[in-house]
Amino acid sequence: MLSQKHFLSLKGYIKEDIDKILETAFQFREVLDRPIKKVPSLQGVTIVNLFFENSTRTRISFELAQKRLSADTVNFSASSSSLKKGESFKDTAQNIMAMKIDAVVMRHPTPGSPKLLAEFIDATIINAGDGTHEHPTQAILDMMSLKEKFGNLRGLKVGIIGDISHSRVARSNIYGLLIMGAEVTVCGPPNLIPRYINDLGVKVNFNLNEVIEWADALNILRIQKERMGRSLVPSVREYRSAFGITLDRLKSHKKEIVIMHPGPMNRGVEIDGAIADSDQAIILNQVLNGVASRMAILFLLCGGQPTEMVEK
Ligand code: CP
Repeated sequence: MLSQKHFLSLKGYIKEDIDKILETAFQFREVLDRPIKKVPSLQGVTIVNLFFENSTRTRISFELAQKRLSADTVNFSASSSSLKKGESFKDTAQNIMAMKIDAVVMRHPTPGSPKLLAEFIDATIINAGDGTHEHPTQAILDMMSLKEKFGNLRGLKVGIIGDISHSRVARSNIYGLLIMGAEVTVCGPPNLIPRYINDLGVKVNFNLNEVIEWADALNILRIQKERMGRSLVPSVREYRSAFGITLDRLKSHKKEIVIMHPGPMNRGVEIDGAIADSDQAIILNQVLNGVASRMAILFLLCGGQPTEMVEK
């Protein structure tokens, strides 16, 4: 029911497919509001969650989405697998495939790993975040949350703030939002904005106050110490002063602005706790929409039928 067998990247994705995913996700959101939050749509479908990197939100929401759709699920953690005994990625994948699975959800620290996996095995592959490359299901849930808040994505002004260079969330959001007709401005320290960014069709503005005046919504990125290698930010205090979404900064702007964060948050660094917990933040809506979005993606890729979707 989607044009591509796998869900690896939003680069070059078809608008009609994103529309279909979002429409289906909103229908599953209604299922999540029911007393019994389960439909039989993927009965008999077996899905493996392969996580080679830590995760809270993505892993739990994929697992919940699979259970809500009545799929059979198996969880794999690299840290407790035979990878620790030296088994290769390819052998691991082919052994899992030999057990007749239909789909794999994979998070891996190496960019391009889900694409490589798709070459090794015949199952449908869903990218749950591959290094600094992409996090396409996060972008879908972010777009769903914006659509829920504003009604439409066309013409919406979205600022993405922080470490753009290391952010798979930024990259997938940029691809998805531009396909859907939104405008995107990125803002962060010059050394954390990649040179090619203008070629993607976004604006760059290093002045956070100007971006706040321009934007309808801000997506605040986490400072990713684990991917930086060496510190690329002079100090937390300086980062916070120039690019932090602080209570004082937002108070000085006389406008309502919607605040998003993919998590996990560094409270007191890129965002103040008081902002994250305020009514203008839709961060926990993003988390709930993550379950509905992932249900929609699994449903559309694993052969669910429209009539099964709403069955109680
Ligand atoms: N947003 C996100 O990917 O969070 P996790 O790393 O906890 O999955």
